[in-house]
Amino acid sequence: MAKSSLPGFDIMTLGQIYDWLDERLGVKEVVAFAKKKVVPEHAYSFWYYWGGMSLFFFLVQLVSGILLLVYYRPGEGAYDSVRQLVYEIDFGWLIRSAHSWAANLMIFAVFVHMFSAFFMKAYRAPREFGWWTGLGLLGLVTVFGFSGYLLPMDELAFFATKVGLEIPKNMPGMRPIIENIVQGGPDVSSVTIQRFFALHVVVLPLLFLPLLTFHLWLVMKHGNAVPPSEEAKPAPQRRTVPFFPNFFIKDLAMWLIALNVLAILASLYPWQLGVQADPLMPAPEGIHPEWYFMNQFELLKILGRILPGMAGEIGGVLVFTLGGVLWGLIPLFDTSSRFGSRARIATWFGFMVIAGLIGLTLLGYYEVAATQS
Ligand code: HEM
Repeated sequence: MAKSSLPGFDIMTLGQIYDWLDERLGVKEVVAFAKKKVVPEHAYSFWYYWGGMSLFFFLVQLVSGILLLVYYRPGEGAYDSVRQLVYEIDFGWLIRSAHSWAANLMIFAVFVHMFSAFFMKAYRAPREFGWWTGLGLLGLVTVFGFSGYLLPMDELAFFATKVGLEIPKNMPGMRPIIENIVQGGPDVSSVTIQRFFALHVVVLPLLFLPLLTFHLWLVMKHGNAVPPSEEAKPAPQRRTVPFFPNFFIKDLAMWLIALNVLAILASLYPWQLGVQADPLMPAPEGIHPEWYFMNQFELLKILGRILPGMAGEIGGVLVFTLGGVLWGLIPLFDTSSRFGSRARIATWFGFMVIAGLIGLTLLGYYEVAATQS
């Protein structure tokens, strides 16, 4: 067949453009592959959209983050550059607000995605690596959040980071490591900003992007898991829809909803910039970390009241480390098919983890409000 060419400035139909691209890039093969891939459809299909939603917010972070880089200056001038961005640069406040809101929405979406994968038992063989790479991504997004929080260097950012770093500093042998490597001195300062900035815009993306690619490749390879209730049905009763275009269009619709939610939040509730941090001032009353660290913060406070001295903090860190290890090992524990006793134990463990995280977070906010009133 004669190769179609871009014929100078002749007007081409869409079909001709498609054929032209196909001859050069093999577009039809990709579309055929996407059409062959199917997604299960059942009562819990709604929960399949949250991985894509996490991906959407991550893309927003990439774009808005690159725009923020145009004006942001790490180091001594960090606060001034953010103030300039918010008050002097056209739409600077909106880009900053979108970046901060999308960060929170992304972490929320990742949590929903993780628990839906958990309750659908999507960690079972052969999807264990989907679970482990996902946990790696969760770890990285929380470090993204923590490192980004300091960058404007307002009062809240400074003291919340200081309080956050105090916890690992109090672990045996950790103080010199945190001070020399993380903070770059005995206290949080402009040197710390420089380090957090490098972490936030270079190191974390370099780790995140290959891990995310691997995570998505695993989903492509194994397809979506079905929950045990669906697995129990005989094969002819199980329904599927083609990924392209059926599921893909619904995915796009969810992205559109996510974009609307983000636009409403970012424009009607602009992210605030507090007063510039003064390291010589005492920490304001009720200083607390971001909501996704509140559960750990509260547990440390509770154990600190029960156990004397450092034992409370060490105990708190141990509880969370142990919980995280058990959470990671769940694919090796719940290997039974469908509804075995291990499957039931795992499900109850999941409910306890959700209840514990939500309970500690609410208690944390209640106590913060009580100290401020
Ligand atoms: C930024 C972080 C993340 C992104 C962008 C992401 C993205 C995705 C996407 C697009 C899918 C396919 C659609 C779906 O099933 O929802 C998926 C599947 C999956 N993800 Fe994630 N994910 C992230 C974090 C996590 C976390 C924290 C976990 C759990 C620890 C996890 C575990 C899984 C599993 C097990 C699957 C396969 C689900 C199935 O077979 O149905 N992911 N992820």
